[in-house]
Amino acid sequence: MIETIQTQPFDDQKPGTSGLRKRVGVFAQPHYLENFVASIFAALPGLAGQTLVIGGDGRYFNDRAIQTIIKLAAGHEVGRLLIGCNGLLSTPAASHLIRKNQAFGGIILSASHNPGGPEGDFGIKYNAANGGPAPERLTDAIFAESRRITAYRRYAGPDVDLSTIGEQRCGAMRVTIIDPVDDYAELMRELFDFDAIAGLFRTGFRLHFDAMHAVTGPYAVRLFEDILGAAPGTVVNQRPLPDFGGGHPDPNPVHAHELVARMNGPDAPDLGAASDGDGDRNLIHARGLFIAPSDSLAVLAANATLIPAYADGLAGVARSMPTSRAVDRVAEELGITCYETPTGWKFFGNLLDAGRATLCGEESAGTGSNHVREKDGIWAVLFWLNIIAARGEDAVTIMQRHWQRFGRNHYARHDYEEVDAGKARELMAGLRAKLPDLPGTSWQEDTIELADDFSYRDPVDNSLTEHQGVRLVFSSDARLVVRLSGTGTVGATLRLYLERFSPPDSPDGSSADLGYLSSTLDEICDFHAAIGRTSPSVIS
Ligand code: G1P
Ligand code: ZN
Repeated sequence: MIETIQTQPFDDQKPGTSGLRKRVGVFAQPHYLENFVASIFAALPGLAGQTLVIGGDGRYFNDRAIQTIIKLAAGHEVGRLLIGCNGLLSTPAASHLIRKNQAFGGIILSASHNPGGPEGDFGIKYNAANGGPAPERLTDAIFAESRRITAYRRYAGPDVDLSTIGEQRCGAMRVTIIDPVDDYAELMRELFDFDAIAGLFRTGFRLHFDAMHAVTGPYAVRLFEDILGAAPGTVVNQRPLPDFGGGHPDPNPVHAHELVARMNGPDAPDLGAASDGDGDRNLIHARGLFIAPSDSLAVLAANATLIPAYADGLAGVARSMPTSRAVDRVAEELGITCYETPTGWKFFGNLLDAGRATLCGEESAGTGSNHVREKDGIWAVLFWLNIIAARGEDAVTIMQRHWQRFGRNHYARHDYEEVDAGKARELMAGLRAKLPDLPGTSWQEDTIELADDFSYRDPVDNSLTEHQGVRLVFSSDARLVVRLSGTGTVGATLRLYLERFSPPDSPDGSSADLGYLSSTLDEICDFHAAIGRTSPSVIS
């Protein structure tokens, strides 16, 4: 039986950089999740009778939320749901399933790398038929629906059994529970040279993969250990847990500190890697050398033709604006276009769909390609393994040779979390107001050449996205970027991105003094004083 439930709008359901993210307690309020999901459905004309893919990263509330979504889907005449067993699907695997099954779209439950548990975060995002995050016109439409919703419909009946693979029904709707790994593993086999990677492991090559008790555990065990023959125990923290074992499933040197210690310790493995809550981010650590995500993207681009899937070359590459410009140098040498987009994977979708870009990446540990429409953590690790196997060089040598050839973009990101939202907005407004006067001014022996608030004209659909962050580019080619995060759940998060280039003849030049860029910002707008902080909460 389908019942209609009366409700009232919430005013805070505007999706951010990557869907709607809030504390679990917010989502668990009566009608909150229901309103948002019903608003997604209302913003999707033609949904009746269609297939949707559903899955999440296994965090606290994942299972309850999926049961709610199933009943709402039945109430809104969805034809069929494809759901990962136990409600699990990594974000890239969900993207692949949408594409492979020509589904109408998918709902992914995740707050990515944010902590989970009853006091932690939860999130929900809609991906469209291309497998990628909903474009802004769709998230705007969902938000508009959420502001005027008065009722939703749901199936009144028993829960679905998420733990049994096979067919079930929920009212008139089909529900198919599938293995979360099978199709994804098959796709990886098509892209990479599995024989070469298996050969690498046969020589005793040691990989250490930290699944951080998040969704990639089952994917990593199947691919690295079962299929490619890495030693048992290669994958640690492999069981997905609702609270990620109390950890923070963000694969950066701060939160993956055990991995970093191991890779810098005696008898370190050959390659260290980790992924985040929902499996779309990656950390790559060579023996004794952390590979910054922006550098990783550049290495993948420079070596892409060694990989079967990219053997014919890249159509183009794309990076988010704050990502370092290391990949730009590779693109220049390859004679291909490097697109600079706003932060967030959704901006890569059009470029990938139109065949303008093959590889994409963000400084926030995200790399991916046209194989799906999300960034992909396990894929990035396989890419590195395939390069190492094909070149017969270890990861340290590969990185150093890259810097010798292209030069090195020294880079750091400073995050100021839970800043008072009003102060953060004021700071950004003040800085924007100063922009016209900055070009030509000198600071600490460097001169600002360009000062703007980044805006992006999508070359495919011509849409314009404005106010994406302040960029200051100096005559030394150093760059300073300041932007407000779109994924924080409490107060505001400000991010500073500092970058300096050493040309090929001085590639190892000290990890470069990036600090002067942050003090320059203090001179320009009293940054630290204005937000009431003396130092960043996280440096990555
Ligand atoms: C952050 C990252 C961004 C990434 C997003 C979703 O967004 O900076 O690159 O796409 O998470 O994983 P932000 O909080 O900066 O808006
Ligand atoms: Zn993620």
